[in-house]
Amino acid sequence: MRILVIGGTGTIGKTIVKHFAADHEVLVAGRRSKDYKVDIADTKSIKALFKKTGKLDAIICAAGEAKWAPFKELSEADYHIGLRSKLMGQVNVVRIGRKRLRRKGSITLTTGILADDPVYQTASAAMVNGGIHSFVQAVALEMKKGIRVNVVSSGVVMDAYHKYESYFPGHPPIPMDKMMLGYVRSVEGKGTGEIIRIYS
Ligand SMILES: NC(=O)c1ccc[n+]([C@@H]2O[C@H](COP(=O)([O-])OP(=O)(O)OC[C@H]3O[C@@H](n4cnc5c(N)ncnc54)[C@H](OP(=O)(O)O)[C@@H]3O)[C@@H](O)[C@H]2O)c1
Repeated sequence: MRILVIGGTGTIGKTIVKHFAADHEVLVAGRRSKDYKVDIADTKSIKALFKKTGKLDAIICAAGEAKWAPFKELSEADYHIGLRSKLMGQVNVVRIGRKRLRRKGSITLTTGILADDPVYQTASAAMVNGGIHSFVQAVALEMKKGIRVNVVSSGVVMDAYHKYESYFPGHPPIPMDKMMLGYVRSVEGKGTGEIIRIYS
């Protein structure tokens, strides 16, 4: 397969790239990538990326930001960070990227446990994750050519646990290989419209 991983240099993305690169051709995209530069918060940039990629069998997005802050401090502009990047960025990856997929290709988005189990300071981040979950279930009904769309929602992954541990008291870290199973299931399985939850 020819697989595009947006956010392939990140904590989650690196694991995805390493796994699939063993048996597949993997293209790594991100804001600082030389070959496949993209800012998913910018629609023009996504269009330019997919002009460069050529035909693909799978698109995985493990990128997207949202502002974390106490609710009383979140400004409207702060919400727009998450809306533009993690929410509409991933929606636009589906809108634009699907046209580059071969028959029976797949798109896998990334959210996180906050959609179901939010913690303090995540009104914006949790909202965006929940929006993606609803989007994936709905858009999967309208895909053509056997194209599938899923989302992987994991808890705090082991390699980022040191950064987020204090926000998630009592939450177990998710081993990277367990998280990876979610992406394998989405790319290699047959399911569509699935929210693949990996929370323990
Ligand atoms: N870490 C966790 O425990 C965890 C758990 C569940 C869900 N998530 C979610 O999974 C996603 C990735 O998390 P992570 O921990 O791997 O983050 P990370 O280590 O900060 O990596 C983010 C990756 O995405 C790229 N990126 C960021 N913003 C981008 C943009 N606007 N356009 C294109 N590429 C962009 C980055 O590369 P450039 O800087 O070069 O663009 C980098 O490759 C996030 O949405 C996060 O909320 C994380």
